[in-house]
This record gives sequence, C-alpha cells and structure tokens, in this order.
Amino acid sequence: MADKIIIDTDPGQDDAFAILLALASPELDVLGITAVAGNVPLALTQKNARQICELAGRSDIPVYAGSAQPMAIQLVTAEHVHGATGLDGADLPDPIMPLQDQHAVEFIIETLLREEAGTVTLCPLGPLTNIGKALTKAPEIAARIKQIVLMGGGLFEGGNITPAAEFNIFVDPQAATVVFASGVPIVMMPLDVTHKVRTTRTRVERIRALGGDFGTVAAGWLDYFERFDEQKYGTDGGPLHDPNVIAYLLRPEIYGGRHCNVEIETESELTKGMTVVDWWGVSGRAANALFIRDVDDEAFFALLTERLGVLAAQRPAPQLRRLGA
Ligand code: BDR
Ligand code: CA
Repeated sequence: MADKIIIDTDPGQDDAFAILLALASPELDVLGITAVAGNVPLALTQKNARQICELAGRSDIPVYAGSAQPMAIQLVTAEHVHGATGLDGADLPDPIMPLQDQHAVEFIIETLLREEAGTVTLCPLGPLTNIGKALTKAPEIAARIKQIVLMGGGLFEGGNITPAAEFNIFVDPQAATVVFASGVPIVMMPLDVTHKVRTTRTRVERIRALGGDFGTVAAGWLDYFERFDEQKYGTDGGPLHDPNVIAYLLRPEIYGGRHCNVEIETESELTKGMTVVDWWGVSGRAANALFIRDVDDEAFFALLTERLGVLAAQRPAPQLRRLGA
C-alpha cells in the first residue's frame, strides 16, 4: 500500500519539482496539498500548487489554502529568487481546478484524526506556519503523525536568507519551535544536504530532453531558479532543495545523517531563524531530529529524471494541451 503524505508548500520552482516527483510516484498517496505563504504570498502559492497539479495531469488532488502570515511576525517573501509569480521561468495559464473551501490547518487536523494513527507523513516544503498552527490548535495530532520530513535549516553551510538562517525557518521561527518541540519524529533536509544537489547544465538538459511542453516547462523553471544561486555560489547549477523531502521517502538509503538536538533561535535580531544543531552532542539535550547531511546526488537526479519522464510521457495535462494549442 502506498504511503500517505500531505505536502505543505509555498511554490516555488523547487517546490514544484517536489510535488511533481510525489505525483509521479506510485509509492506515495498524496492526500492533499496545503499552501502556505512563503516564497510569494498565499494568493500565489495556492494558485501555483494547482498549476503544478494540472501540469502533472492530477487535477484530482485537493489543494487547500492555509496561512497568509507567519504565527507571530510579518511575512518575508523571496521574489528575488523565485520571480514575481513564484514560478517564473515557464508561462502556464491560470488553473481550472478549484481551490478547496476548507482551511489548510483544518484539513491537516481532520485528516490526522481520521486516518489510522502513525500512517500519515507530513512533508513541509515552506515556512512551518500551517503545521505549527495545527499542532497548537490540536496537540493530540502529534501522536498520530508518522513523521515530519521537512526542508529547512542549516549548520555547516550557514544560512541563505541571512548569514545564520535558512529561508523556511527564518520566515516563521515560532512555528518551527512548535514543530521541533512536538515530539513527532522529524527528518530535516537542511542546506547542508540540498547544496549537494545541484542542477548542473547536464542535468537540466536531460530534463529538457524529456521532450515536448513538459520538458520545456520543467527546464524553464530550472534555468530561472538556478540563475540566482549560480551567481551567489559560483557553481554549475544551483541547489534543488525541496524534492529531497520526497526523494528521502522514496530512497532513504541514498541519504545519510545523524540524530541531533535542534533548537530554533527566535529572539536575536542577528541570528533569528537559526537552527542550533547539536551535531557534536555537547548540550546534553535529547535528539529531536534526524539531520541529513549526505546524499548520492547522481542517484537523486536519476530518480527525479526517471519519474518526470513518466509524467512527460503521459502528457495528459490540460495545461499542456492549452499550451500547445
Ligand atoms: C527553501 O526556501 C525556498 O526559497 C525554497 O523553496 C526552499 O523551500 C530553501 O531555503
Ligand atoms: Ca519551498
């Protein structure tokens, strides 16, 4: 039986690849996609999530809008990385599939209370606002969550939005505090691993070569998304962060890490949103997360390209038909 997941997301080109990878994978049963404000405001992330579902030919996936603002501070967005739409690099028409009426936080709570305990994995790809709110409103869900596999944080790589903080944790450090204190098994994909997963020219061209409009859209997103980090880091390609969450569920054996205590800095102006990771075990605090640091990046891109190839070959998406029209 497929593993049940909820994807909580702020698309984002790299979020798009995570969603496409999940939707292309029969091992995973995507119960719903919940949108959160992050890379761009909520009005765009919920719309982008629906565009991505339609691109995959999966307008049956329910998409819910969640939090427009972080739990306690003002939203910070990242148009300088992702473009004004959040999905710059490909020109998709507006989605036709509806947005669900239910609030994302309610959907998360209701789903966890309905499904058998220990069977649903949460996959946060953006700020942790929706998850933090759900755990605060209904603390009894914590014991029912199988695990939370999230993209966020960093240690040896430092931060990407400030010298100390990674974007997803920086945008809502209060929500991150709730999540890391929840007692739910957590696997984190920090910058330390995602910076090893780079969209080199060869890898992007393999994705473009999947063909047709699908290849054009996917490679267009990568071309746009990597320009910022290529310039910043001086590398061939930029890090492809969020799909690591889904790839971990599919191929955990290609990742390596260590169980550590992770606390979130919420006060300091200088280091707000920093993940304080006790990699060396000096604090005496109990481990609360599996901190992933290593990956077989060739295996990751082989998996991603193979699964995107399945979607490209199906080419069922009304989006694509309209693009080609
Ligand atoms: C994270 O921030 C966003 O810009 C990306 O989508 C990713 O989730 C990387 O720091
Ligand atoms: Ca994201």
